[in-house]
This record gives sequence, structure tokens and C-alpha cells, in this order.
Amino acid sequence: MQPQNVSQHNSQSLPDDHIPPDIIRLEQLSKYYEEGGRTRAILHAVDARFAVGEFVVLLGKSGSGKSTLLNLVSGIDLPSHGTVWVNGTLLTRLSERERTLFRRRTMGFIFQAFNLIPTLTVVENVTLPLELIGQDGRESHRRAMELLDAVGLADRGNSFPDRLSGGEQQRVAIARALVHNPILVLADEPTGNLDEETSGTVLELLDTLTRRAGKNLLMATHSYEVIGRADRVFHIHDAQLMEEPLSAAGKPWPEAIAPGQLVIPENGSSVIGKGLVQ
Ligand SMILES: Nc1ncnc2c1ncn2[C@@H]1O[C@H](COP(=O)(O)OP(=O)(O)OP(=O)(O)O)[C@@H](O)[C@H]1O
Ligand SMILES: [Mg+2]
Repeated sequence: MQPQNVSQHNSQSLPDDHIPPDIIRLEQLSKYYEEGGRTRAILHAVDARFAVGEFVVLLGKSGSGKSTLLNLVSGIDLPSHGTVWVNGTLLTRLSERERTLFRRRTMGFIFQAFNLIPTLTVVENVTLPLELIGQDGRESHRRAMELLDAVGLADRGNSFPDRLSGGEQQRVAIARALVHNPILVLADEPTGNLDEETSGTVLELLDTLTRRAGKNLLMATHSYEVIGRADRVFHIHDAQLMEEPLSAAGKPWPEAIAPGQLVIPENGSSVIGKGLVQ
């Protein structure tokens, strides 16, 4: 039986049998660490459902558990309790080997520190996810070049990563995250090492190549600009995952940011200042 979808704005006007399936479903998800004889709850009994096609943003102070949650969703890490479903697969019931294979086929990753392999050229870096799922040769190279073209770096395929600027390296990382056509893209502070202008370019590119291409994007970030683009915004605080209410402008309005300090105009970009909240 298809469970009730709690994602109000996606399911409100749809009959039950047309409710979009969840891309991610977390049930009673908990992660605890033992430290100095004490148990620290990083996440405690978190329930959440993200529908297919949603661009979801995770906010939270440093150390609140954003990377922990991404690692649990990717199956890199296992929860202390609870379950993780990704695209209908109960990830937490798979063996480590099965989780790795599932992750390689289903997901793409983008990290704050880019994480390109320095000894491989740009095009070799982008081809790597295809090799890991057993696809290589001419077709893989063609696909990698297609992605490099999409991120505006077709002419840098033979360069090594250390020859590229931070923004260029992150664009290569985006190409690498998408080359195997994953259903879900996980991004952990992808603009954290970039200046404001470069962040804007990278975010625009991510938005175009993921959400607007029908993919799912779950992003941990501190960047205000992302908030205005998101379909849903969540905030991790005290081991809980809370959805931020929508502002009158129909955009998520994070209470984590002091009231009166954030204005999100209709065009989606955000302005930090003393203006009124719309
Ligand atoms: N293996 C571990 N053992 C003990 N504590 C850990 C371990 N891994 C992470 N933690 C703790 O879990 C908490 C959440 O860490 P996490 O990396 O998820 O935070 P974050 O929200 O991503 O922070 P940031 O914004 O700085 O990246 C931190 O207090 C961290 O010290
Ligand atoms: Mg983190």
C-alpha cells in the first residue's frame, strides 16, 4: 500500500494513486556517538519524506549533523536506529557491498573540498564513476566530454585539477557527480570554498543540471542564495530535523536567521539586510 505522503505542497491536489513516490524516506532515524562514557545524540528519531523532484536544503550550525545525515542517506554510514529508504530501496537492510553498488549507480556526490583525484586529468576524473559501474571506453569518454561541455570546461579535459581555479574544480566535480545519470545528487556545502560570484555560477549550474533535469538534489549549505531556490528547507537543531515554514513570498523562511535580517524576493535571490520579511 502506498503510504500517505506528508509532503503537503506536492500531494495536496493529487488523488492517492498519483502521489509522487518518495526519493528519500527516513523513519525514526537516529545516530548516536559514545564519547567519554556519554552518549551524544546527533540525530534522534528523525522522520522525513522527500518527494521525487524536490530540491531539499539542509541548514544547521557547524556540528549540528548535516554531513552525518548526508552520510546516512548515502549509506556510507549506518544509523544507530531507524531506517533509510532511497528510491524505494531499504538501504539500511543491504550489506555493505550492496550499499556500495547501490550508491555507485543511484547517487552522485559533490563536496565542499571538490575531492578530485589530483593524479588523474579532468576528463579521467569525470569518467571515474562510469568505470566504477563497469562502463568504460569510447562511450564513457564521450559522455564525460558531454558533461564537461555542459559545465563550460570542454577545453580543459586534459588538464590536471591543480591547474584549475576553485570554481572550475567544483564544476568538474558537478560533471563527475552527474556523468552516470544518478537519480539522487547529494551536495555537502558545495559552495563553501567559493567566493560569492563563483558560488552563484556553480549554484545556477547545479540547479539547471539537477532539478531542472528532473533529478533530486539534497544539499547541506550555509549559503543564503540556495535557500531561495529550494523547494523545501530543513533545519537540524538539537538532533531534530525541522521543516522551515514558507514566507509570504512562498519561499522557505528560515527561523534560524534572525527575523528582519533576510528578505527573499519573488525572483528567488536573497538579500541580507534590515529590510522587512516579505
Ligand atoms: N566518528 C565520530 N565520532 C564521534 N563524534 C562524531 C563522529 N563523526 C561526527 N561526530 C560528531 O557529530 C556531530 C555532527 O557532525 P557533522 O559533521 O554531521 O556536522 P555538520 O553539521 O556537517 O557540521 P559542519 O557544518 O561543520 O560541516 C559533530 O559534533 C561531530 O563531532
Ligand atoms: Mg558538514
